[in-house]
Amino acid sequence: MPAPRILILGSNGGLGRALVRQLAPNHEVTAWTRAELDFDQPEAIASQLAGCDFDVLLNPAGMTNPDACEAQPQKARLANVLGPQVLAQCCHERGARLIHFSTDYVFSGKPDVLWGEDDRTDPVNLYGRTKREGEMAVLQASSDALVARVSWLFGPDKPSHPDQMIERALKGAELTAVADKTSAPTSTQDVCEWIECLMQKSASGVLHLCNSGMASWHSWAEQTLTLAETLGIPVQTARVRPIKLAELTQLKAARPLSTVMSNQRLQSFLDIEIRHWSAALEDYLGRKYQPR
Ligand SMILES: NC(=O)c1ccc[n+]([C@@H]2O[C@H](COP(=O)([O-])OP(=O)(O)OC[C@H]3O[C@@H](n4cnc5c(N)ncnc54)[C@H](OP(=O)(O)O)[C@@H]3O)[C@@H](O)[C@H]2O)c1
Repeated sequence: MPAPRILILGSNGGLGRALVRQLAPNHEVTAWTRAELDFDQPEAIASQLAGCDFDVLLNPAGMTNPDACEAQPQKARLANVLGPQVLAQCCHERGARLIHFSTDYVFSGKPDVLWGEDDRTDPVNLYGRTKREGEMAVLQASSDALVARVSWLFGPDKPSHPDQMIERALKGAELTAVADKTSAPTSTQDVCEWIECLMQKSASGVLHLCNSGMASWHSWAEQTLTLAETLGIPVQTARVRPIKLAELTQLKAARPLSTVMSNQRLQSFLDIEIRHWSAALEDYLGRKYQPR
């Protein structure tokens, strides 16, 4: 069977860049940014897609900052609900497959729950609500579509929590991180490898794509700095003062407390053992700071 032709949206974003790098060597990949397809112009999407040959459409694009979503709800709905819905309708009409990325923020954050794909969603902010509405719109428009929920991404294409912690620790700044909010940190490199495997299988519906284990922002930061010391990165401190989420009074949107997702369905589907986030983090930091 010939390799599928792939169109990747949001290719300037953290996950979008990683997907292009992973898939371009072995597939015919077209990478679009907001300049080629803008969810703010939903009426143009169908004709733009009609001008591109593809078998699989990967959509990591969306309005991803919870505070920005709260401030601009109409734009959030266009990017996270209406745009993905039009993508799914177009894919359905031309017999293409849509893989649409979503988030652990569709869950309420109730503590001590390992969230499964079929668990009840109950987002606490507009970002989560629009992402959930987008999931439903996508699945309703295209029964072949896959909604891939990811959480707490890190990787080489966009600075995230570990990069920020190391940058501050290199300067010897005082470090604080929230200790009462948990999820599963997840490597964009691993997500890309899972996606490449999932494209060869007929996965549809909702699937959780996350590394194994769980962390708080605080334990993620401490593990990052411990690994940094092991790798010989000259951080001036590995101590992080724990704080509570409630202390971050500058946040406009509410944040869910605990959104650790189960990756059991993904492990069974791909018949693999998914590595712990700390192993993926060690790999990432090693590549970034000790390139061969
Ligand atoms: N990062 C995480 O920790 C995390 C956690 C859970 C779920 N997710 C989900 O994973 C996916 C990828 O996340 P990410 O971190 O890679 O996001 P990202 O870096 O913010 O990238 C999102 C991309 O979407 C584009 N975009 C935003 N609004 C748009 C619009 N109106 N029209 C067209 N394109 C638009 C942005 O374009 P510009 O570059 O022009 O702004 C950007 O390239 C998203 O679905 C997100 O909800 C991410």
